[in-house]
Amino acid sequence: MVSLVNLESTDKQHIWITGASSGIGKAIVQQLATQGHQIYISGRNSEVLDKLAAQDGNITSIPCDVGNDEAMKVLLQNHDIEYLDTVILCAGTCEYIDLPLLDIQKTRRVLDTNFFGVVNSCIAALPLLKKTNAITVKKPHIIGIGSMSSYLGFPRAEAYGSSKAAMSYFLNSLRSDLNDVIDITMVYPGFIKTPMTDQNDFSMPFLLSADKAASIILKKAERRPLTIAFPLRLHMLLQIMKLFPRLWYSGVSGSLRRTSGAKA
Ligand SMILES: NC(=O)c1ccc[n+]([C@@H]2O[C@H](COP(=O)([O-])OP(=O)(O)OC[C@H]3O[C@@H](n4cnc5c(N)ncnc54)[C@H](OP(=O)(O)O)[C@@H]3O)[C@@H](O)[C@H]2O)c1
Repeated sequence: MVSLVNLESTDKQHIWITGASSGIGKAIVQQLATQGHQIYISGRNSEVLDKLAAQDGNITSIPCDVGNDEAMKVLLQNHDIEYLDTVILCAGTCEYIDLPLLDIQKTRRVLDTNFFGVVNSCIAALPLLKKTNAITVKKPHIIGIGSMSSYLGFPRAEAYGSSKAAMSYFLNSLRSDLNDVIDITMVYPGFIKTPMTDQNDFSMPFLLSADKAASIILKKAERRPLTIAFPLRLHMLLQIMKLFPRLWYSGVSGSLRRTSGAKA
């Protein structure tokens, strides 16, 4: 099996990354770009994507809104992509719910990107991933960036946490159906410093940089595990909290509630 991050590999992989214009996705692109793979990058901000592509002849910018069903259906057909080895589903958004307003529009916006965006991306990518089986001996790989927020109910995360739980179930279910032909890895990061979390005004334990998160994801994904969860200490703490849900809901989760009036 050819490693995703084997610097000595001469096997050029075809990799599509959504959410590539910022944060974790951008850091992944920058790390993969040093390895000579053919990389297709997506996000809505075409200016940032084009700048990234201009720095490296192996990067192609494919701007899109992953929540746009019709555009996503034909997105990859409009580009000269022979096949895809790996798809990294990183596009995501976070809007917090401020009770008493249980905001349906916010909730739909978050689900449109984080859940339906993943479904749309899979619809776009599956034909090209399946072609890999015919063209090369390798099994293609989908890597979905979920979140530890789907482990337990987090405050103000009614929309975000639900979207990540739905995405996780969707990809696990897809794995059940396609296990023979495609490897699927679900990634559960803790808190990573990116423009998304820069809006948070609560304490974020074990915060990691986007570069560190990208290198952990790429390194661990080499072995194609079913799940990757990091940092381990936060993962373990939350797993323990799952055993004591009353403790979580009656006090601990409240410590992650916002502490000032910052907008999310
Ligand atoms: N940061 C964390 O602590 C953390 C923790 C767990 C999981 N995650 C997940 O990691 C992923 C990356 O997040 P990040 O922290 O790196 O945030 P970020 O810096 O805000 O990056 C989000 C990326 O998603 C893209 N995106 C958002 N909406 C989109 C849409 N409708 N269509 C296409 N692309 C869209 C953005 O690009 P455009 O603006 O150009 O569209 C951007 O490239 C997300 O799925 C997030 O939920 C993050």
